[in-house]
Amino acid sequence: MSYIEVKHNYKRYQTGDTEILANNDVNFTINQGELAIILGASGAGKSTMLNILGGMDTNTSGEVIIDGQNIAKYNKRQLTSYRRTDIGFVFQFYNLIQNLTAKENVELAAEIVSDALDPVQALVDVGLKSRINNFPAELSGGEQQRVAIARAIAKNPKILLCDEPTGALDYQTGKSVLQTITNLSRNNGATVVIVTHNGALAPIADRVIHFHDGQVTKIEPNDHPEDIANIKW
Ligand SMILES: Nc1ncnc2c1ncn2[C@@H]1O[C@H](COP(=O)(O)OP(=O)(O)OP(=O)(O)O)[C@@H](O)[C@H]1O
Ligand SMILES: [Mg+2]
Repeated sequence: MSYIEVKHNYKRYQTGDTEILANNDVNFTINQGELAIILGASGAGKSTMLNILGGMDTNTSGEVIIDGQNIAKYNKRQLTSYRRTDIGFVFQFYNLIQNLTAKENVELAAEIVSDALDPVQALVDVGLKSRINNFPAELSGGEQQRVAIARAIAKNPKILLCDEPTGALDYQTGKSVLQTITNLSRNNGATVVIVTHNGALAPIADRVIHFHDGQVTKIEPNDHPEDIANIKW
């Protein structure tokens, strides 16, 4: 059995008379310790799927099995505990706490788990050594994105879920941050899922799950993932 198993996952949104099937019978598996990429165009249903995997949102129907447990059946309390202990989540739009500094944002996340990494080191790893005591409003978009990544990494999570983690970053910073994210899978054994619309990132993954229009169109396992240094976009 795989570590993550998504079976017949549906997510339906009802807005007035219009119904949107953001996930329309999604099926895939991810093994423990893998780096997986969910790849697809805008509106394909990637964030919807990631939010469900992270216990941030619930599905309409289907099974979402994480380490043998179907989290789709969890109540609010169980989901809170799952998010807290197992998940590091990098939101597409950062979701930093505005009245806490970069360091405090990361510390807050690290404090709730037992085997956290050093918050300052996590910020240094994403290249923010000189911005540690700044508030989000004093940081550029890319810097805020890196605080969000440091916050997720510092939890030393079993599962790291990243929604467009390089979206606001320039090429070099993006590469360096991707390396930090990848290290969590390669060195700490975390299962990492990166959502992106950038196909150039696909070669670094152990598994690429293609999304189109709410469905998985192709799954490509890769026995020889490429070094981040060797990819270009
Ligand atoms: N809360 C919501 N209410 C209604 N429709 C929604 C909601 N959230 C997402 N959708 C719709 O579901 C579909 C999938 O959205 P989702 O955010 O998962 O796409 P995505 O692949 O992450 O796109 P992007 O690359 O632009 O972030 C879209 O058509 C979107 O408009
Ligand atoms: Mg999205």
